[in-house]
Amino acid sequence: MSELAIETKNLSMTYGRGKSTVKALRGVDFKLDNGENYCLLGPNGTGKTTFIRCILGLLKCEGDINVLGYEMPHERDKIISKIGYMPQAISLYPDLSVKESLHFFGKIFGINNRQIRNKSVNKILDLFLLRKWKNTRVDNLSGGMKRRLSLACTLIHEPMLLILDEPTVGIDPNLRLNFWNYFNDLNDNGVTIITTTHIMDEAEKSKMIGFMRSGKLIAEGTFHDLKKRVPGNRKLIIETKEETTQKSAKSIQEEYSLKTIFHNFRLEVLYNDDAIIDGILSLVRKYNKITSILTVEPSLEDTFIFFSNENSKEVMSK
Ligand SMILES: Nc1ncnc2c1ncn2[C@@H]1O[C@H](COP(=O)(O)OP(=O)(O)O)[C@@H](O)[C@H]1O
Ligand SMILES: [Mg+2]
Repeated sequence: MSELAIETKNLSMTYGRGKSTVKALRGVDFKLDNGENYCLLGPNGTGKTTFIRCILGLLKCEGDINVLGYEMPHERDKIISKIGYMPQAISLYPDLSVKESLHFFGKIFGINNRQIRNKSVNKILDLFLLRKWKNTRVDNLSGGMKRRLSLACTLIHEPMLLILDEPTVGIDPNLRLNFWNYFNDLNDNGVTIITTTHIMDEAEKSKMIGFMRSGKLIAEGTFHDLKKRVPGNRKLIIETKEETTQKSAKSIQEEYSLKTIFHNFRLEVLYNDDAIIDGILSLVRKYNKITSILTVEPSLEDTFIFFSNENSKEVMSK
């Protein structure tokens, strides 16, 4: 088997024709090793779903796509039973019961009723807290239950590659945590996983993170690696007595060329040399009375903002 689960070369995709076109992907080169646990992170409308659908051979696009050693979309039939895909918009049949849905999706992916019984539907129903509702029609389930069932249907054929597009949308925080823990367990058992999210702290639960912006993959690595690549890899948080932190922020930018974020009573400075802290504080004291000072590691959000700014010129010019 191929070492790579997914590889794309110069993947581009444009929606529409003539004047009203949207360039959703702009030359994405992507590699995912077998056994990886990868999260594609980026704001809404940045191309995550389009990328996923291209990988699955569901959209016409330009560039090369290889999944589990097969060329997409031509060889899609050969591998579709090895892939579990949970789309962003839930696609279940309202008239089927919970149990019937599991059987239905199992059949689509090539396993028969006996095999499904052997795989113990009850086990999967328990796992997703659905046993009580096994005879309930999809129509009558809550949003959270539908999403749980949707994931159960994605997993019924025990896929080796799991592709989950915003799997936790509409799910309460407790269950959301359970979902991510469950993905990590599957990954520990050898399943390759790629998820998408626009929620920063969810992405931190994956081993590898890819940042997407305006149809491009702008940076990737572990959270630790990405943080290290940010020049100001520490953050100074200064709280002030007054709301007017804008002048302080501007003077720090001018004096030290450091990235600052200000909102109301709070000023944040990304820096990497403790020696300049005193200088920064003196500048702030010219305009504001300081009430507290804290230094922390930058968050994933800070890291994303850094990479977004660094790539913005290039992305905008294409
Ligand atoms: N069916 C479609 N027709 C036209 N434009 C689309 C369609 N689907 C998505 N887009 C556009 O393509 C871009 C990428 O969308 P999408 O892949 O859904 O992003 P994400 O999943 O990151 O939110 C957006 O500008 C979106 O408006
Ligand atoms: Mg999407």
